[in-house]
Amino acid sequence: MKTQVVIVGGGPSGLLLSQLLHLNNIDTIVLERQTEDYVLGRIRAGVLEQGLVELAKKANVSDRMMREGQIHEGFDISQQGTKHNINLKKLTGGSTVMVYGQTELTRDLYQARHQMNGQIIHEVSDVELNDLKTNSPFLTYRKDGQEYRIDCDYIAGCDGFHGVSRQAIPTTVRREYERVYPFGWLGILSETAPVSHELIYCQHDRGFALCSMRNPKLSRYYIQCSLDDSPENWSDEAFWDELKRRIPEEDAAKLEMGPSIEKSIAPLRSFVSEPLTYGRLFLAGDAGHIVPPTGAKGLNLAASDIHYLSEALIAFYEQGSSEKLDSYSQTALKRIWKAMRFSWWMTTLLHKFPDYSEFDTHIQRTEIEYLFSSEAAQKSLAENYVGLPY
Ligand code: APR
Ligand code: PHB
Repeated sequence: MKTQVVIVGGGPSGLLLSQLLHLNNIDTIVLERQTEDYVLGRIRAGVLEQGLVELAKKANVSDRMMREGQIHEGFDISQQGTKHNINLKKLTGGSTVMVYGQTELTRDLYQARHQMNGQIIHEVSDVELNDLKTNSPFLTYRKDGQEYRIDCDYIAGCDGFHGVSRQAIPTTVRREYERVYPFGWLGILSETAPVSHELIYCQHDRGFALCSMRNPKLSRYYIQCSLDDSPENWSDEAFWDELKRRIPEEDAAKLEMGPSIEKSIAPLRSFVSEPLTYGRLFLAGDAGHIVPPTGAKGLNLAASDIHYLSEALIAFYEQGSSEKLDSYSQTALKRIWKAMRFSWWMTTLLHKFPDYSEFDTHIQRTEIEYLFSSEAAQKSLAENYVGLPY
């Protein structure tokens, strides 16, 4: 087989890139390890920056998002039960965020890809990238016991943190930066009304908690847990009891509880791999970087990568210019590191760190009190939360 761009990974990054390129008459083939149902079965955060909403409009996949998504003008931060509202719209002069499940966006992307007869090959294995430093790279993969080869001009590595693309960059070239946090997030989904119309991020001596939602009838809650914890250790009742201890009393009193329809633990890490390119290979999304979920930047960073990469590939095929391709890594990393900083800052602000000294704990408490007392500090938080410019 031959195509212009092979995309490894059929998650949000790969599907969005495939859709944007196809709309600009650039041929792609997406190689996905799992089935479509498996990809759509992943429960992921859904706080979308305006930049992602605009990109979804550009990709013709925003109709349902605009119908069913919820515009949020702010969120609450509580410290030991005292709540303070961060009014994003006021602090940023009008910017807001959209709450719309990532799973729903991925569903919309799959639907659009199928409508355009996009080529997505599922359940592939043994994907290998070859001749990346030549002008004619190719991939091999296996499916149903057969080996296949695809010749192409470029390869987009959109295969997430555990994919093969980043590993195709030699360790002599690649530099990785990482911080693994000493705790995880135990999350549940429940078919209950959200406790508040906006998100509530809770800092508490017992540990962090977050009240979020997917829609007016589907709530998402998290409590910080230890890395050696497991969902099996937590009955629904135990989860609700602990959550109510960490969120403000007035919210605990009105919390609608119900059976969990999903319960899982996610580890927290900050990770960046540099550079994002190697010859004809370009990494985007989780393949190149991971943020802790605290700042809801994972999908939003994937979106800005895809914005830069799609613009660069379109410029190459339309004008023969490789300038944006040559600067992709440097351009994307500038925004990636700013989101990395913000996600790290918000994580250190709100979580209980086992190794904190009394001084560290006092500084953390003061950081939140300063935030609550300073409009300048809140403006800085707000401009990062709604998303820095592309
Ligand atoms: N071959 C083919 N596909 C692969 C391979 C491989 N070797 N390895 C991984 N994949 C697929 C995975 O099955 C997954 O569907 O690549 C896809 C990567 O998707 P994501 O992990 O969702 O990463 P990305 O598309 O960059 O989306 C980033 O997802 O993980 C969240 O928080 C993250 O919101 C962010 C978003
Ligand atoms: C979620 O709804 O899953 C969610 C929302 C905001 C975050 C993290 C997760 O910061």
